[in-house]
Amino acid sequence: MFQTSLSTLLRKRRRPESTPAHPQQGKKFGEVIVYLVERRMGKSRRNFLTSLARSKGFCVDNTLSAEVTHIVAEGNPAHELWPWLQEQDVPHLDNTNVLDITWFTESMRAGRPVPVEEQHRIQKPSLQLKTCLPDTSLPTVSQYACQRRTTLDNRNKVLTDALEVLAENYEFNDSKGSCLGFRRAVSVLKSLTTALSCLQDAVDLPCLGEESKMVIEEILECGSSSRVDNILADERYQTLKLFTSVFGVGPKTAEKWYRIGLRSLEQIHSNSSIHFNRMQAAGFLYYEDISKPVTIAEAKAVGCIIEETASCYSSNVTISLTGGFCRGKEFGHDVDFILTVPEPGKEDGLLPAVIDTLRSQGILLYSDFQESTFDLNKLPSRRFEAMDHFEKCFLILKLQMGLVEGQQADPSRRRDWKAVRVDLVAPPADRYAFCLLGWTGSTQFERDLRRFARLERGMLLDNHALYDKTTNTFLQAKTEEDIFAHLGLDYIEPWQRNA
Ligand code: CTP
Ligand code: MN
Ligand code: MN
Repeated sequence: MFQTSLSTLLRKRRRPESTPAHPQQGKKFGEVIVYLVERRMGKSRRNFLTSLARSKGFCVDNTLSAEVTHIVAEGNPAHELWPWLQEQDVPHLDNTNVLDITWFTESMRAGRPVPVEEQHRIQKPSLQLKTCLPDTSLPTVSQYACQRRTTLDNRNKVLTDALEVLAENYEFNDSKGSCLGFRRAVSVLKSLTTALSCLQDAVDLPCLGEESKMVIEEILECGSSSRVDNILADERYQTLKLFTSVFGVGPKTAEKWYRIGLRSLEQIHSNSSIHFNRMQAAGFLYYEDISKPVTIAEAKAVGCIIEETASCYSSNVTISLTGGFCRGKEFGHDVDFILTVPEPGKEDGLLPAVIDTLRSQGILLYSDFQESTFDLNKLPSRRFEAMDHFEKCFLILKLQMGLVEGQQADPSRRRDWKAVRVDLVAPPADRYAFCLLGWTGSTQFERDLRRFARLERGMLLDNHALYDKTTNTFLQAKTEEDIFAHLGLDYIEPWQRNA
């Protein structure tokens, strides 16, 4: 039902070995023999495109033989592809078409090989050109976070902290575009393995606009940026930052309270004209605890509680830690878990059962349960809202400090527990990989994965599915690796996704 008829057809046709060495299947356009370059494309995408082309009557050769007339590569810059081709000792390479994937996709759409035009060709870099090019052995930084490896070891923290202030200030001023621009710049800097020492180091970096560069230059030269310092000292910025630190309070509400003259949390609390929603009421009630970071030890203790609670519902529940802790962070603002059961449909009702049990244990301080609105027939969604449609809940749990490993008794504490924010999501088992990839984050990494899929691959990715617009098929995935392979991306480990 979920697979379209085309991919079902392809599966039926597939031989035991999915990509045989000889192109015997395609006979229709015998004069055109295609070779798909696996490097950067990935094995599974290459297999998929090979089957697709053959189903349309194209000859696809698995080896770079003398018969190949059209070499097709995806995501390979000329300065990388050509030296690689030359190493393969391809006969008559200079008389072979070396083409970008656009030729292939246009041909698939047309159902026949389209004539080769100049814009399809990946031109051989000329020797002369090579000498005036910057040193191509230097790795180029991609504009997409999903093509960068970003660990928590940020060598440019002084710069990224400053640019984050600008991004946040733009967010408070409702300038989404500028905010996103600065967040992209921050993300590029976070991926660098060395600290920038002068502005010249930044000339080849993507996503750095003039404003970002000015701030970087100021900081590298004077140690700080007057523009950033002014924002940090600004009363409005400080107040909005404080108000949005409350669970349930976004920039809009914060701005509303600021405009009526409120400046502190006490003033908000004692103002009788303000009506809190349930989330904000909990946010204020447990502010002291949930504004403090959650530690790994606390996250583990929460994991044990959820595991025990969920096992009452079914012995087959799998609990996976996701979010920031899955990316190796030592602190988080909450703990995120994915709960799955192998039996299709059994995830319905899993979270309400967990919530009920937590309540009966007396450790549920707050719960916002959202029923599943997931519907296979409504995919692919072209609206990439932040929320997905799976059954989920946002909780505040009462964590007994005695359950936390290595926790020293603190006599200054009035109580022996801490309120901790916990998010749970329960997707159907066959959606697990998409959900995990979406919830592991970081937010910037997710944004760029989706942007990359759409702009570079003609695919739609969200927390539910991956859809190929060229072939009108949903691409199935059991693991995160499968999704990266479908996208023709090198696999990026969770701890390298701190973009
Ligand atoms: N997310 C999502 N849908 C939601 C909520 C969150 O896809 N309804 C994703 C976010 O895009 C993010 C990840 O889940 O990538 C985790 O969200 P969050 O807990 O807010 O951030 P963390 O990266 O875990 O950071 P922290 O350590 O501060 O919690
Ligand atoms: Mn989190
Ligand atoms: Mn979360």
